[in-house]
Amino acid sequence: MNTLVLSLKNGKREKSIKCAGEILRKGGIVAFPTETVYGLGANALDEEAIKKIYKAKGRPSDNPLIVHISNKEDIEFITDDVPEICKKLMENFWPGPLTLLFKKNNTLPNIVTGGLSSVAVRIPENDVALELIRESGVPVAAPSANLSGKPSPTKAEHVIEDLMGRIDAILIGDDCPVGIESTVLDTLSDPPILLRPGGISKERIEDVIGLIISGQNEEKSDIPKAPGMKYTHYAPKAPVIVFRGSILNMVAEIKKMKNEKENEGFRIGILATDETVESYTGCVFSVGSRDRIESIAGEIFHIFRCFDKENIDMILCESFTTEGMGLAVMNRIIKAAGYHVIDAGGEI
Ligand code: TXA
Ligand code: MG
Repeated sequence: MNTLVLSLKNGKREKSIKCAGEILRKGGIVAFPTETVYGLGANALDEEAIKKIYKAKGRPSDNPLIVHISNKEDIEFITDDVPEICKKLMENFWPGPLTLLFKKNNTLPNIVTGGLSSVAVRIPENDVALELIRESGVPVAAPSANLSGKPSPTKAEHVIEDLMGRIDAILIGDDCPVGIESTVLDTLSDPPILLRPGGISKERIEDVIGLIISGQNEEKSDIPKAPGMKYTHYAPKAPVIVFRGSILNMVAEIKKMKNEKENEGFRIGILATDETVESYTGCVFSVGSRDRIESIAGEIFHIFRCFDKENIDMILCESFTTEGMGLAVMNRIIKAAGYHVIDAGGEI
């Protein structure tokens, strides 16, 4: 398939978005930037178009998609029931990286929700995404625009790496500032359940609606509530081991394991921070300063992809606070590691 690469620069913005909107209306699939990660969009009302998304990504078809709309009123086309708690959350966080579950109506094809009776919806906070949805005139179902199992794309070049030749078009926008996918919250349960930590922190949600339950432990159960959570995710090619504990202990344990593994003939990569990067030698990437967890969130998937370009056998990774955006960062790191965590002792 020939993939159209649509620039937004040098006066091409209007024409490119128009073209992408038309492709969506006609049943094609288009990658576009959002504030979280790049999405791969299709008309949510068109079953054949949705099938193309699953095929292009190599995604299991029981993993449901998020439907993107461009204004709050359009929620009426997707559900007959907007509970008060959702109205409150929509008021506070839309447009933005919070995805909410609603009871789905009958106009949406079942394939969008993987057969579930609930549908996940959000309004992205990105002008290109919003203009594209408006231009298409339809709700846009969009998972992250990566091959299934790879880290989500936060730069246009990541989308090109994964999907060139597999989709109809790519809108080349800026890097995604949040860098981690949206928070997925199930408000159909009481109390609400955090199905996926993401761009809006648990603390910020609790400030608005009170206590919510973390659904993270059920990721390892047989029937996770966010079906996507049961698959290996976000993973670089080389296996990842996460170290937790005080900074001093983490650094010491990582250096010790690096030496041991190198003696066995393995090539080791290290995911460090600005504060610790000087402590290591060899293939080391800093994901940023521990003082700015938001900017670490913005870099983490890109750094995962940087390791893929190095010739290494194993990645040893530091861990971070689980406060604020740290919860989403650690969720992605631990999933990339397939829950392989070593306790180095002490608290972070
Ligand atoms: O930031 C984001 O959310 C990005 C951008 C493109 O909007 N999208 C994204 O989509 O990350 P995706 O498909 O990669 O992740 C969607 C997550 C999956 O874990 C999926 O299982 C869950 O949301 N999900 C979708 N619909 C659901 C539903 N009805 N019930 C429970 N979980 C659902
Ligand atoms: Mg994804």
